[in-house]
Amino acid sequence: MNITILNGSPHKKGTNAYLLDEFIRGAEESGHEIYRFDAAFKKVHPCIACDRCGCGDNPCVFQDDMVELWPELEKADIVVFASPLYYYSATAQLLSVVARFYAIDKRLKGSSKKAMLISSGTNPSDWAMMGIQRSYEEALMYLEWADIGRVLARGCKTREDAEEKGFGEKAYELGKNIREGSK
Ligand SMILES: Cc1cc2nc3c(=O)[nH]c(=O)nc-3n(C[C@H](O)[C@H](O)[C@H](O)COP(=O)(O)O)c2cc1C
Repeated sequence: MNITILNGSPHKKGTNAYLLDEFIRGAEESGHEIYRFDAAFKKVHPCIACDRCGCGDNPCVFQDDMVELWPELEKADIVVFASPLYYYSATAQLLSVVARFYAIDKRLKGSSKKAMLISSGTNPSDWAMMGIQRSYEEALMYLEWADIGRVLARGCKTREDAEEKGFGEKAYELGKNIREGSK
């Protein structure tokens, strides 16, 4: 399957980078094709709601690095949303990318894709990822995509925390166990 990964972390060797490396290792071992978009190192202008795109009828006014991502989103069977928690939400880098889905909204909505959420945050509390999970769930309800897995690395400030707490293994297993018709 084609898997498109959206990474919102600005840390090249941080927690999410580690979780994604492990996820990719598992997914590639199972024969899946990976495309990874590290949003923090790309040029992505925030959506300005000019509506010139008509949600997919016309080109977006910003022909930045989203030009590379849009086709990868359209062809993806699975989209992975990965981000550290920043004030209990995803990073601005990831949220800017997601808002720019708008330019191809008509082709993404109802396209029966599957999705995954990977996140990390310092706070170990159970409630700490309620917000990011809820906005992920609502976006999926709108898009009519199905959630097929999450790695929620709570209590992890650094990649070493994630390594010690076994979240790398969880991410690897998530990638490794993706099958045609995964649910
Ligand atoms: C600006 C900022 C805001 C943060 N907000 C939260 C937060 O709301 N809750 C939390 O648990 N951790 C928070 N953190 C900690 C990061 O989410 C955590 O260190 C994460 O594992 C970093 O992932 P990365 O190395 O992939 O970037 C914040 C860190 C920064 C820099």
